[in-house]
This record gives sequence, C-alpha cells and structure tokens, in this order.
Amino acid sequence: MFGKRAGVLLAAALLASVLGACGDDDSGGGGSSGGGGRLVIGFAQVGAESGWRTANTKSIQDSAKAAGVELKFSDAQGKQENQIKAIRSFITQRVDVIAFSPVVESGWDTVLKEAKDAEIPVILTDRAIDSPDDSLYETFIGSDFVLEGQKAGEWLTQEYQGKTDPVNIVELQGTPGAAPANDRKAGFAEVIKKDPKFKVIASQTGQFTRTDGKQVMETFLQSHDDIDVLYAHNDDMGLGAIEAIEAAGKVPGKDIKIITVDAVKDGMTALSEGKINFIVECSPLLGPQLMDLAQKVADGQSVEKRVLTKETTFTPEQAKEVLPERKY
Ligand code: AHR
Repeated sequence: MFGKRAGVLLAAALLASVLGACGDDDSGGGGSSGGGGRLVIGFAQVGAESGWRTANTKSIQDSAKAAGVELKFSDAQGKQENQIKAIRSFITQRVDVIAFSPVVESGWDTVLKEAKDAEIPVILTDRAIDSPDDSLYETFIGSDFVLEGQKAGEWLTQEYQGKTDPVNIVELQGTPGAAPANDRKAGFAEVIKKDPKFKVIASQTGQFTRTDGKQVMETFLQSHDDIDVLYAHNDDMGLGAIEAIEAAGKVPGKDIKIITVDAVKDGMTALSEGKINFIVECSPLLGPQLMDLAQKVADGQSVEKRVLTKETTFTPEQAKEVLPERKY
C-alpha cells in the first residue's frame, strides 16, 4: 500500500523542509528560497569577540525578523577563511544579497569576484576592505574609524593642555589587520604626534577581547612602572585592562587614565564609575540600515557608496545621563 518510490519521495520532501528551516542559523546547509517575494540575505559575521559584536548580531537578526527578511547567518569565529567559505556557500545557495563584516581588510578580491560573476550584490557592514576595485561591493555601512581614533587623540590633548611633562601611553590594538585596528591607531597617532610630550611606549594587540586585554595589560604593567594613559581600541579590552590595573594595586581612571572606543553598556558603566575617563562611540545598531539598503540593491536601485553612522563621545557625566536608556 505504501510503495518504495512513495517512501523515497516522502523522505526527500521531509529533507527539503528540514534544510529550508535551517536557513536562519547557518550558511552551511539548505538552499535559498530565492524569489517568491521574500528577500534572502546571507550574512557572514566576524564572531562574538566583544559586547559590541553581540549587540551588532542582535541588531541584524532582529531587524531581519522585523523586515520579513530570510537571514542566513554565519559566525566566522574570527577567521577569514571561514568567512570566505560562508560567502561561497551563499553564492551556491543563490541568496539575493550577501553582507559581511570583514575580519581583516585585505584578501577579498577573489571571492568577491565570484559573487560579482554570480550577479549577487555585496554589502560591507561595519568594516571596509582595502581592494582597489570598488565595483566588488555595492555599498559600505559603518563608522569612520579614523575619526574615532582622532576623537580619542583630541580628548587626550585637551586633557593634558598646558602641561609639559612627558605623557606615557600604552595602546591595546584590535585584531591585527582589521580596519578598526588599523584606522583607530592611525587616527590617534595623527593627532598626538603634533605634541612631542605624548609617547606611545608600548602598543600590542589585545584581539578586541577582554581576556587578551587583561593579559596584555599585565605585561605592560610588568615592564613599565610609568604608564600615564591607556588607549584601548574597544571597551572590552579596556575592561580587561582595568582588572589588571586593579590587581597591580593601581586605580584605573586616576593612576592610569583610560580612553576606549564603542560605548557598550559595560564600558559606559565603568565610565560612569570613573574607571574609564572617555569613550568614543561606535554604534553596532546597523541592522535597520542593512535591511533597507539590501532591499534597495536587490531592487536594482542605486545607493550611496559609503553610508556613515552618526556617533558621539562620552564623558563620565554624560555616561551617567544616558546609561538608564542604553539598550546594549
Ligand atoms: O568593527 C567594530 C569593532 O569590532 C568594535 O569596536 C569592536 O568591539 C569589535 O569587536
């Protein structure tokens, strides 16, 4: 009554529905629903290295849900090769738009040419690439990281205005080769070099993580007893460093002044307590803009090549004011 062929067909139908249901979580399985009116975006995320990244992922996932977009989400766990694999998988699945936040700036041309040949538009979110060929992507949405570094440097020059003693700075850099690490370093250096009293006495990567921030700060403290300022490329590394500073018997924010970038809730809390002195904001809430731009490029509309996020800076007093409403 239930023949072998009918059984095979039923099994195939079941498998297809399971693969379809997997689409929201993983680039590895399932085919794109393609057409049918529902926009399909393949998004390759960097990883989950920081509070900023977690908020960014949530913004993208929530906005996709709200916009009725099918999101195929892949977490590269900080590895470029995983992001390249995810992009290739999105091409095979024929998604409508590919979006990704590049782990590092270089090395994307080959895979992006593959996307271009497959006529799948690409959107860069949060981080840019350093390819000379800007036809490989439709648009970039995110922050001006050089400006963020400059804002950090400008606060410092204001803070030490009129003083002549040397100011010894240690720097915790983001992931090597990542746009925010390169640009925040360059922007800061460009401003402080105007005054020779500012000296970067040590600069090393803390990988944008709390654990590495703490560990590297410990080594800075062991080799230098004259640190005046810490400039950390994100809040998480700054928060890790605060633990190391306190363990060394020093007072963060007083014995060592601290500047960070991001303004996530934990960073803002430390700022309101005076453990951090200044935070340059970098907004992770890119989801709504991404959905809007993805729909536009999928519809063949022209979009701006670079869409910059509006951002501010925070002092401890300002952090106290905005903290109650801070969503991430
Ligand atoms: O690319 C944005 C940066 O990446 C954030 O400042 C940092 O916290 C993150 O990991």
